[in-house]
Amino acid sequence: MARIILKNAREIEALRRANHLVAETFRVLEEHVRPGVSLSELDRIAEEHIRAAGAEPAYKGYAPNGVPFPGTICASVNEVICHGIPTARRLREGDIVGVDIGVRMDGFYGDACYTYTVGNVAPHVRKLVDTARECLNAGLAAVKPGGRLGDVGHAIQTLAESRGYGVVREYTGHGVGRRLHEEPTVYHWGRPNSGLRLEPGMVFTVEPMINLGTPKTELLDDHWTVVTADGKPSAQFEHTIVVTDAGHEILSQ
Ligand code: MF3
Ligand code: CO
Repeated sequence: MARIILKNAREIEALRRANHLVAETFRVLEEHVRPGVSLSELDRIAEEHIRAAGAEPAYKGYAPNGVPFPGTICASVNEVICHGIPTARRLREGDIVGVDIGVRMDGFYGDACYTYTVGNVAPHVRKLVDTARECLNAGLAAVKPGGRLGDVGHAIQTLAESRGYGVVREYTGHGVGRRLHEEPTVYHWGRPNSGLRLEPGMVFTVEPMINLGTPKTELLDDHWTVVTADGKPSAQFEHTIVVTDAGHEILSQ
């Protein structure tokens, strides 16, 4: 069984810097997310910002399935749950787009995701996006020493399902460090007082994907794009956090 690599103060500082760059890249993208912009334009802006800071995109060329991911960002529009490829597709008024950004800086990774709304979005879709953000916050509220990962998943699942939404099961949060994906696996559902007991120095992501309809997913022929089985929208937010003596620190903000 792989083990969890606890991080010391120096390593946490490096993770903080990598994740702050991710957060800054979201702020740079924000002014460009408008009707008419293409996903590939957003990708180029993000890549230039990351490289100018002396870091490199983490997802570009990443190939756990044998097919290298082609972009710096994942850009997941409407019914795309995650791992959307930044193509020439242009955003339109009423779309939502989940942008996931990973960087590697001085040997450590940063990873976060934010769902933007494009112009005027239908109220029921806006409520989905708001709930996905609240689900991330509810999960993070359970992150403290002595708490358990099942508490995190349970908080997310309870909130999402209380509003009739589906929680995606096939994709999870994960430890982060000198590798993009480390132990532990962070599920976005679960039972209270179950699972891994949290300790200071643990660094991981929480990244719930919340679907308006069914939680079921499908993988497209490009081997990356994950969509909802019913074609209804999905929204995602992600932070990388470190467990501290007092609770947790969000590194990616
Ligand atoms: N935040 C997602 C994850 O950590 C994004 C992965 S994109 C990929 O799994 F291209 F690297 F797969
Ligand atoms: Co992640």
